[in-house]
Amino acid sequence: MSILQVSGLSRSFGGLRAVDGVGFGAEERGITAVIGPNGAGKTTLFNLISGSLMPDSGRVVFDGEDITGLKPFRVARRGISRTFQTVKLSRRMTALENVMIGRHVRSRAGFASGMLASPWAKKEERSIREEAMKAIELLGIADYRDKETGSLPFGIQRSVELARAIAAEPKLLLLDEPASGLNVRETRVLAELVSRIRGRGITILVVEHDMSLVMDISDEIVVLNFGKKLAQGKPREIQANREVIDIYLGEDDA
Ligand SMILES: Nc1ncnc2c1ncn2[C@@H]1O[C@H](COP(=O)(O)OP(=O)(O)O)[C@@H](O)[C@H]1O
Ligand SMILES: [Mg+2]
Repeated sequence: MSILQVSGLSRSFGGLRAVDGVGFGAEERGITAVIGPNGAGKTTLFNLISGSLMPDSGRVVFDGEDITGLKPFRVARRGISRTFQTVKLSRRMTALENVMIGRHVRSRAGFASGMLASPWAKKEERSIREEAMKAIELLGIADYRDKETGSLPFGIQRSVELARAIAAEPKLLLLDEPASGLNVRETRVLAELVSRIRGRGITILVVEHDMSLVMDISDEIVVLNFGKKLAQGKPREIQANREVIDIYLGEDDA
């Protein structure tokens, strides 16, 4: 069953149709990859799903409810977390503090009142810390939790970002090019972490350029080109798809 169903989704910037009538479903507990050349509309698609951008038309149904056009914090509360193409962490905070911010999305007090020192807020703060620690342990970065985030190796920063996203206990995780900037070894670790996260029952939608990673981890692949869905299928089907091969060869030539 699809936990996420996107249909007829479109968004233009001026005369440019960045996302043009895109529809697909993401299987619950599966890993669905969105691939396509630079400028194909992948990040825009994620922004439309997560509420960072409003669609011109189309629908986003998540977990049986229409979430089209909801504000990002409301989408987050429904159970969708994301990471960004460029790491967005507070460099001066510790890894644990960054992950705790992810957890605050779920807390009743919210971030501002969580700073107040009432006994109730303190108790909530403690539970936020505990949940953040669980995410940090799941991603194998407990050794770094008290380190200033900006000082950590880039691969570890990516893991901190993943921990922050899953600390909110999402049902769906959107990952925008999680392997960008990672070396071969770090990419292998990432593949293992993504599988581990899926093992927790979290559905994953991932935009990724690293084709061997995509073919390795995905159950289903959606191919975008110039804002439109060009193809969809299992990794084997996509690897053998002539049109898909052609756009990637074209990209290499450029
Ligand atoms: N905020 C924006 N304003 C204007 N054009 C944009 C904006 N965001 C994206 N675009 C354009 O939309 C197209 C799709 O971009 P994007 O979704 O970032 O592609 P991808 O992530 O697949 O590389 C590109 O041509 C890009 O320049
Ligand atoms: Mg992008």
